[in-house]
Amino acid sequence: MDSFIEEVILSHDDIVAICERLGAQITHDYQGKDPVLVGLLKGSVPFLAELMKHIHTECTIDFMHTSSYAGVTSTGSVKVLHDLQHSCAGKHVILVEDIIDTGYTLSKVMELLKDRAASSVEIVTLLDKKEARKTTHVTPKYIGAAIPSKFVVGFGLDYEEHYRNLDYIGVLKPEIYMK
Ligand code: IMP
Ligand code: MG
Repeated sequence: MDSFIEEVILSHDDIVAICERLGAQITHDYQGKDPVLVGLLKGSVPFLAELMKHIHTECTIDFMHTSSYAGVTSTGSVKVLHDLQHSCAGKHVILVEDIIDTGYTLSKVMELLKDRAASSVEIVTLLDKKEARKTTHVTPKYIGAAIPSKFVVGFGLDYEEHYRNLDYIGVLKPEIYMK
């Protein structure tokens, strides 16, 4: 285990198994619907890449970049830094997120996409910190794993842009962000 990690939450094998399960569900639910997987940058990149390998029906991908975090706490204000390349009007959108914490980011993005007349909008998240939720507007249809409200890194998740490259997910030692 890496020296900056306190506890491994999901091994790489766990993550692949989760993506197989979620991919099979999405394959089943979206036959013939040609959904667009919208990855929220940057944290969702490894998850989207693994998940899409297990979706066996026609689909496309697009990306949106929003920001709300400074360090380890959510600020509650969400900015769109980079928008979708293609219109999502009339499309079945699946928002792909690394983790849902307060839910503010996704509630804002959901609002935006509904205003743009997407046919449907659902959420797939690798991790869900249910206890940390501060809005009732966000109900992910597909959840990889529910985790306690601890600060985790790896497989896309960062602390000040680092640790996204780990192929597993672990709890960051508090002394790393307390210093
Ligand atoms: P929310 O708006 O509070 O739901 O925050 C969602 C975003 O916060 C995620 O896309 C992550 O970028 C970030 N985030 C929340 N919890 C963690 C964590 O434990 N580690 C790293 N990033 C996190
Ligand atoms: Mg982040």
